Amino acid sequence: MIEWKNDAGVVTLTLNDPGASANTMNDAYVAAMGSIVERLVAEKALLKGVIVTSAKKTFFAGGDLRQLSRIQPADAAEAFGMIEEVKRQLRTLETLGVPVVAAINGSALGGGLEIALACHHRIVADDNRIELGVPEVTLGLLPGGGGVTRTVRMLGLQDALMKVLLQGQRMKPAQALSVGIIDEVVPAAELLDAARRWITTYKGDAKQPWDRDGYKIPGGTPSSPKLAAFLPAFPANLRKQLKGAPYPAPRAIMSAAVEGSQVDFGTASRIESRYFVSLATGQIAKNMIQAFFFDLQSINAGGSRPDGVPSYRARKVGVLGAGMMGAGIAYVCAKAGIDVVLKDVSLEAAARGKEYSEKLLAKQVAKGRTTPADVETFLSRITPTGDPNDLAGCDLVIEAVFEDTGLKQKVFAEIAGVVEPDALLCSNTSTLPITSLADGIDRPDDFVGMHFFSPVDRMPLVELIVGAKTSDRAIAQAYDVVRQIRKTPIVVNDSRGFFTSRVFGTLVMEGAAMVAEGVDPVMIERAATQAGFPAPPLAMLDEVTLTLPQKIRAAARAAGDSAGAFDDHPGMAVTDRLVNEFDRRGKAAGAGFYDYPAEGPKRLWPGLWEHFGQREPAAGAGAIPLVDLQERFLFAMALETVKCLDEGVLRSVPDANIGSIFGIGFPPLHGGALQYVNAYGPAAFADRARALAAAYGTRFEPPAALVRKAAAGEIFG
Ligand code: NAI
Repeated sequence: MIEWKNDAGVVTLTLNDPGASANTMNDAYVAAMGSIVERLVAEKALLKGVIVTSAKKTFFAGGDLRQLSRIQPADAAEAFGMIEEVKRQLRTLETLGVPVVAAINGSALGGGLEIALACHHRIVADDNRIELGVPEVTLGLLPGGGGVTRTVRMLGLQDALMKVLLQGQRMKPAQALSVGIIDEVVPAAELLDAARRWITTYKGDAKQPWDRDGYKIPGGTPSSPKLAAFLPAFPANLRKQLKGAPYPAPRAIMSAAVEGSQVDFGTASRIESRYFVSLATGQIAKNMIQAFFFDLQSINAGGSRPDGVPSYRARKVGVLGAGMMGAGIAYVCAKAGIDVVLKDVSLEAAARGKEYSEKLLAKQVAKGRTTPADVETFLSRITPTGDPNDLAGCDLVIEAVFEDTGLKQKVFAEIAGVVEPDALLCSNTSTLPITSLADGIDRPDDFVGMHFFSPVDRMPLVELIVGAKTSDRAIAQAYDVVRQIRKTPIVVNDSRGFFTSRVFGTLVMEGAAMVAEGVDPVMIERAATQAGFPAPPLAMLDEVTLTLPQKIRAAARAAGDSAGAFDDHPGMAVTDRLVNEFDRRGKAAGAGFYDYPAEGPKRLWPGLWEHFGQREPAAGAGAIPLVDLQERFLFAMALETVKCLDEGVLRSVPDANIGSIFGIGFPPLHGGALQYVNAYGPAAFADRARALAAAYGTRFEPPAALVRKAAAGEIFG
């Protein structure tokens, strides 16, 4: 587990968990580290220094999340004991009295970085694949292996919180160096030599500031004037940033940092352990670990990709349509190293699409995220054109012209004999059924829906839609393309609204239904953001336009699909009235649920109160409780997701969880739409759904698939 090599008094400890692909902080590690520190203490008179390095590709992967996610409140004392033991060992290493250096050969995140922080000096191999940081906050946790206590003492409260702890940034070596959590970056081949050199030339007493009596935290403690001015604003800023959503980790991190900065190292470290255990035993960390670690890992490892198809890499993509979406797709493909032919009705129109990439890249240069030389390379990959024949040699086509079946089929026909004979054919349609679109296309088995989200450069999800004739080869290749452009794919079967738009519809229409009930629109919006939705429903409905529900209803009725027509949905009367009576069609039209003044921010339209909000509550009925408003949003989406899984629209639970968070803003703290049901417990969830149905409408009746799960005592998994 930890190899020991003594070379003339310099001991190199190499972390190497046999049989595991990465080193984690599991029981074997604790046992091995325990005996290593015992031996170090016993032999310390003969030692000149210690190098800590790793035999794995990653330096150290951090806590064992499978073990962590099983911790229950009843295990709190045991968990506290375990984390304190890990920290006791690192503290012994740190106070051994000889210089200790971390030679960081691969990524050190979370517990991995915390091991390095306990060393006196950190040297990192110069390799841009290496990531450093404490991303625990993104899993609902805090760095409880000394990460809070040590970064505060190294960087001061303000920098530790803002630059390292609260956002959980994963930093490249150069950034980590400028932030100050590492000390040197050297060529990979010289890493161990540099570590040894640091030990042999070390002149100090191997003590960090926090070992001295009366240590001094850079920037001062909460009682110093500078911090006294900064700290009171902090909780308020945090609340604003989280929009009132109940994320416990950022608050716990802040408390551990501030409280810990006023006491000695040992006490600070125990405070940090206590906060860690309270987060680890709570439900939100479990939800976030499920979604952002296990579900994402499963998708990244192949998830719903059909087996047995050789892996695929696109070399040259033809993007049809250089509008908002086509321009964004061209950008992400070029950034991933794929040559792009960007086609629109004319060269000028296509060139405008390329300008979009130029603008995005200029912003990145201004922020220091990319260099002018790289910009040249990215841009040289994009060739704008108005001529379909320029798509010769493309092995991938992504279509993003106007949402019109005839036009889409026509642009595919134009390039049919031009591109490679087996090129993968994708459409970014957001509403048209893939199966019927494929009917007018040559090679329908090579045709797949590739649904991006706007803005393409920032939205991480791509929904792949499988038509009746789409082959496994096409799905697998499309999956590989999405990974190649560094996005996250989910696979769904063709149906109305696919997965994301269908479930998104239930959220925004629930907001409209509340307007119909006379709920104060400010409350509707606030209930959603406080529940953890990144944007509130009425604002989102304005974004997608208020005529969209009408279009969906018309299409669903034409297809004889009454469930999809929102026919019985009380929200429909609201969007109908806004469009038909008040000519308020949404943001693009300048008026919807909100007014969009030329100057200043948008404001909820006062007419909502006047025309919808005057209803007297029924006799005896009080205001609708906030928790009901919030659960109506969450339940509407989760119930629709259960139906999608049952109908085979969704193929997996990870696709449901990640698709709902990344695509349509299901609150990350619940870990996705099905994790929400699982955490609630399917039986309790079905009961609560019945209660909501009795109070607010039959759309909340639990579907058969949920009732079956509840009866069997199973969860979705
Ligand atoms: P847009 O209107 O910005 O762009 C469409 C582009 O297609 C225009 O530049 C137009 O000149 C071009 N075009 C028209 N005929 C063409 C032809 N014969 N050959 C080449 N180009 C032609 O539309 P947007 O928003 O980019 O949407 C494109 C597609 O993406 C639609 O199918 C839409 O449903 C879908 N989509 C849109 C999303 C959004 O948020 N706007 C999200 C996901 C999908």
